[in-house]
Amino acid sequence: MSFNSFGRVFRFSTWGESHGPAIGAMVDGCPPGLALSEADVQPFLDKRRPGTSKFTTQRQEPDQVRILSGVFEGKTTGTPISLMIENVDQRSKDYGDVAKAYRPGHADYAYDAKYGFRDYRGGGRSSARETASRVAAGAVARLVIPEVTILGYVSAIGGDAIDPAHFDAAEIGNNPFFCPDAKAAARWEKLVDDARLAGSSLGAVVECVATGVPAGWGAPLYAKLDAELASAMMSINAVKGVEIGDGFAAAALRGEENADPMRPGDAGAPAFLANHAGGIAGGISTGQPVRVRVAFKPTSSILIPVETVTREGQASDIITKGRHDPCVGIRGVPVVEAMMALVLADHKLLHRAQCG
Ligand SMILES: Cc1cc2nc3c(=O)[nH]c(=O)nc-3n(C[C@H](O)[C@H](O)[C@H](O)COP(=O)(O)O)c2cc1C
Repeated sequence: MSFNSFGRVFRFSTWGESHGPAIGAMVDGCPPGLALSEADVQPFLDKRRPGTSKFTTQRQEPDQVRILSGVFEGKTTGTPISLMIENVDQRSKDYGDVAKAYRPGHADYAYDAKYGFRDYRGGGRSSARETASRVAAGAVARLVIPEVTILGYVSAIGGDAIDPAHFDAAEIGNNPFFCPDAKAAARWEKLVDDARLAGSSLGAVVECVATGVPAGWGAPLYAKLDAELASAMMSINAVKGVEIGDGFAAAALRGEENADPMRPGDAGAPAFLANHAGGIAGGISTGQPVRVRVAFKPTSSILIPVETVTREGQASDIITKGRHDPCVGIRGVPVVEAMMALVLADHKLLHRAQCG
């Protein structure tokens, strides 16, 4: 099994490598009759695109999407939707050292151990270039769930967190960090730039909230909505932790503190007085906002020498030249949002299939 696909009813597969001619996604199971054009996809790719500030990789990729199939007269036909994005700015010579020795923290050794052979140019298939394909597929998924609004943002970089009291959703688009706290964004300018100039890198926490998810999506037990979200988020490059709702903090609470009390609400649905659960109970959405937190590790490709071994097993040091993100979590925001949309679209259709 090669595991390049995700989802059940709304299912997508991605293909391509960092330094190949193109990358892309094939979306299968999309309902027919939805209005879809490149203009519906491009804004999300533009948000993930590299080279937009000094705080991301300087690789210049226009990331222009082309829809090759599955759309006729501006509407989805119900047949596979193929989305293609050309790679135009590869610099394979930067990866000469990576061909000979493994970058600790990157996938180089693990790919060699598994396949005995790897495309080292830009990390090949293990490059986060692949995440552009997910973002494109996620844009299609959003058309399936128009009732849902998805908001992603960075809540911490290098251990420096936003102040929840300063949270302002309108700020997210005003700075290069997708940060909802203007003061934190100002601090991060120096923090990330110092790390970049030192040839180092920083980790980050991305939070994502989906509002408008009705009660009833998700399925016990082996397709719990929280399990599917955790799997989706963990499949993103460099993600090392996922929390739903209060996550690990819930383990420090008492039962009465962690409860989400209910009072009679509108239209027969309860009104919740808190949302520690992150909008999911028993693997099924409750109608509350679905909240996910995702921990991104610091970029492993850095200019500071790290001890490693060569393919022949000789001791060596490696510094990784080339163009890399000093903090991959920043561009992780649109990817997290896309995975949220993909999981929710799949579960909306699964719910409809079983419960009508
Ligand atoms: C948006 C994004 C951009 C990334 N850019 C880089 C990068 O420039 N250099 C790098 O070494 N890793 C980068 N990564 C992380 C690697 O792709 C990832 O660490 C690698 O595939 C190994 O997988 P793992 O960290 O999930 O174990 C990026 C990740 C994301 C989500």
